[in-house]
Amino acid sequence: MNVVIITGASDGIGAELARQMAQQEGTNLALVLAARSTDKLEQVARQCRQSGAQVLVRPTDVGQEAECRGLIADAVNRFERIDTLINNAGMSAHALLEDVLDMGWYEQLMRINLWGSAWCTHAALPHLKASRGRIVVVSSLAGLVGLPGRTAYSATKFAMTGFFEALRIEMAPHGVSLTLTYPGVVATDIRHRGFNAQGQPAGKSGLHESGAMSVEECARLIRVGSQRRQREVVMSFKGKMSRWMKLIAPGLVDQLAIAALKEDVRPHG
Ligand SMILES: NC(=O)c1ccc[n+]([C@@H]2O[C@H](COP(=O)([O-])OP(=O)(O)OC[C@H]3O[C@@H](n4cnc5c(N)ncnc54)[C@H](OP(=O)(O)O)[C@@H]3O)[C@@H](O)[C@H]2O)c1
Repeated sequence: MNVVIITGASDGIGAELARQMAQQEGTNLALVLAARSTDKLEQVARQCRQSGAQVLVRPTDVGQEAECRGLIADAVNRFERIDTLINNAGMSAHALLEDVLDMGWYEQLMRINLWGSAWCTHAALPHLKASRGRIVVVSSLAGLVGLPGRTAYSATKFAMTGFFEALRIEMAPHGVSLTLTYPGVVATDIRHRGFNAQGQPAGKSGLHESGAMSVEECARLIRVGSQRRQREVVMSFKGKMSRWMKLIAPGLVDQLAIAALKEDVRPHG
């Protein structure tokens, strides 16, 4: 039995990953689905069970350490092992720092994106070592290149990159692989739900969304990267290019980052 925990499995990329894995592995798969919205998790669970997978729905707020540790404990109690942990739960944010009055939500974002992944991973380590398993991390292109309007989000995603690159080397002797994935713009509602300058749901996207990658393709790339135990999955041509361009022509990358924003959310001069 292949036991896989997916955080942020109630919607978007995490939910699609669960469905694709269930379709592919059927009765050989046990899924643990975590997020805050129980109803949405139950809906995803029903779809996965139809493909033959066993599913544990585990309501979890990854911004709370005790809940992350409880998630891992419940997964092991139910299925007695963990083969893969997919740290996917995350929130977005879009605001120019100069427009932010209270930075309290910056800390909240860090708790969800970085600390949620760190707490779940720390709790799961002994079980992943026992299974010579896989850790998968859903970072972002914003974790490779600093983006305007993303001081909060980029900081969380760069922090994830540092934490998990270091952990990859620590885990190599134990046969635990670590796949860091870097999606670009993917067609989900994440930007609408993300914080605005006041720490409220933005209700709109600040990015040009045409050309966004489909959620199906993004989930497929993460799934394949995990199966192959790839070090990294950098998605989209733009993502791969900006990484190299940052070394050769960093000023040009800054201009491209501004061009990706809608006019009304660009830095004001
Ligand atoms: N979409 C993109 O363009 C894009 C690009 C690069 C990277 N990413 C990354 O991909 C990951 C998934 O994003 P998505 O686009 O699929 O977003 P999404 O559709 O908004 O889904 C986010 C998921 O995370 C969960 N989540 C949010 N806060 C949580 C919390 N405190 N505790 C537990 N679960 C929480 C949500 O469930 P509940 O609300 O039910 O808790 C939901 O299941 C994120 O880490 C994001 O940063 C996305």
